[in-house]
Amino acid sequence: MSRANRTEAPRGAPPSADRRRFLAALAAGVGLVLSYGLFAGYAVSFLFPPAVRRRPRRLFLGRRTDFPAGSARPLVDDRGRTLLVVAGEDTLTAFDTRCPHLGCQVRWVPKAARFVCPCHLGMFDREGVAVAGPPAAAHQALTRVPLDVDTASGTVFLRTDA
Ligand code: FES
Repeated sequence: MSRANRTEAPRGAPPSADRRRFLAALAAGVGLVLSYGLFAGYAVSFLFPPAVRRRPRRLFLGRRTDFPAGSARPLVDDRGRTLLVVAGEDTLTAFDTRCPHLGCQVRWVPKAARFVCPCHLGMFDREGVAVAGPPAAAHQALTRVPLDVDTASGTVFLRTDA
């Protein structure tokens, strides 16, 4: 084969139309694959979201002496729940203040030693067990939130992993 029969473009000449079309199709194909891949990634993460795990946390509430017997101290935890920490002679218990009947906020009435729900006059004893009203009829109780009392240091923590 002689050199004169080859159809090479001279150096410095613009690319041929076939080469330009090929490069344009290649760029379009790569863009299409990338955009569909991105869309597929979002679709998979939407359909199968990664499991959200709450790490166990302890919130410092104070010293044990900050909770004298007979007191009920309100607080809001890191989830936005309103809690009541009720102290007995030897006990310290935290309750979520949402009434299990329809979700109204219960209040602690020290004279009666009862939680009272103003919506339908539900009542709960010191342990959070319903004793009157619709929650008692449904055998419901207030939700307890675990506390850690470190007797060595005399500090009280709220566990928010539960
Ligand atoms: S919401 Fe509390 S008794 Fe009905």
